[in-house]
Amino acid sequence: MKKLYIKTFGCQMNEADSELIAASFKRRNFEITQNLKEADVAVLNTCTVRQLAEDKAISMIGRLRKWKLLKPSRKIIVAGCAVEKLGNKDILSRFPFVNLTIGAKSINKFDDALNNIVGKAKKPQKQKPTPEASLFNSPITAYITVTRGCSLKCSYCIVPAVRGEAEHIAPDEIIKEVKVKIKNGAKEMVLLGQTVNSYSSQYKGKKINFADLLKLISKIDGVKRIRFMSPHPLFFNESFFKLFKKDTKIARHIHLPAQSGSDRILKLMRRGYTKKQYLDIIGKLRLADKDTAISTDFIVGYPGETEKDFNETLKLAKAGNFNFAFCFKYSPRTDEDCKSKNLIPKEILKKRLDILLKTIKLNSKEIFNSRIGKMAEVLIEDNNYGRSSKNFKVKIDKLFEPGKLLKAKIVKNEKNTLHGKVVK
Ligand code: 5AD
Ligand code: SF4
Repeated sequence: MKKLYIKTFGCQMNEADSELIAASFKRRNFEITQNLKEADVAVLNTCTVRQLAEDKAISMIGRLRKWKLLKPSRKIIVAGCAVEKLGNKDILSRFPFVNLTIGAKSINKFDDALNNIVGKAKKPQKQKPTPEASLFNSPITAYITVTRGCSLKCSYCIVPAVRGEAEHIAPDEIIKEVKVKIKNGAKEMVLLGQTVNSYSSQYKGKKINFADLLKLISKIDGVKRIRFMSPHPLFFNESFFKLFKKDTKIARHIHLPAQSGSDRILKLMRRGYTKKQYLDIIGKLRLADKDTAISTDFIVGYPGETEKDFNETLKLAKAGNFNFAFCFKYSPRTDEDCKSKNLIPKEILKKRLDILLKTIKLNSKEIFNSRIGKMAEVLIEDNNYGRSSKNFKVKIDKLFEPGKLLKAKIVKNEKNTLHGKVVK
């Protein structure tokens, strides 16, 4: 059997695309290996959300030159967002030993493109490609793409350019995919979309929104938990809050990117909300369930960000009571971005990032400790480890089969792993 090595950079969206890619190889009798040395084909699924992500992927292409020289029949495929941003030509001229480049927008054409590289599949692909199983995660968790691309125009973000306008997958297809994943052993569905709660489609002749989609998925036999990411503050509505309160299959953790706490910067970023509106939404999530865990993303050093703006972000970081936050230095993505006169000097970016990270960490520690003595609903992933509905890693005092959902009382916090005692 031939072997495929696949390296995924970036977000869960890319992970889900890598599953589609892997499925195409599986239909051609490939097996997946984690060991590049024994692989016949290497696929790099690239990211370009920040310069660092792009650089990492590009430097790995460079390193593959030697790997191919060792065995010239080996094939290299570069896919994903960086291909879309840089262009096929750019990559092929810099790295002439690459056999195929295919951008994130062309993922549906991947299977056809593969014919010229590794030959046709024995069984032709039926309609749209569907991933066969969760290949890279704990098999308990499955990623389901419900929306591709993004129709918002946040000023700092490359995603709309590299993934295109938002396109919602039809509910029938989503339901079909959920059922396949359940058959393969998954219990927890993670719905993916750049603005996942903007979901809108038709089902049985009627218009449906994100809350309706959640209801449809929650009803499917075998679905024990639903997560989704990432929602956008603009697309929450009362039907969601009502459902969130009632349906506890929907995990009590929401990742809600804030990006900044300064209304001035939020406006420049074209986020469409103020700090107060953001706080109102997390207030509503916590009204529906008192201690809903909220995590977020922040960007520091957006062009023109003053100390005062940054202090507003720090205030939000405290007021939000986040269980964690991904914090990034602003990274210009286009030539135009790079020309901005207001770029923040590197030293200040670093200083602000450090301060913000410290604030987040302090709060995070408090939240972890506040779980002690409380109950958690844990979905076992591996032996005695699992994740709580609030997305905390929990170590249980007994061994269980993966996929078991149980209640545990949290007894201590050790290095950001909660320890729980199973309760009958
Ligand atoms: N610079 C820094 N961070 C960025 N992100 C998106 N674009 C940029 C950029 N140009 C961050 C945002 C987003 C996360 C996925 O990446 O915080 O939510
Ligand atoms: Fe994901 Fe954005 Fe990176 Fe593409 S560029 S992989 S959408 S984070």
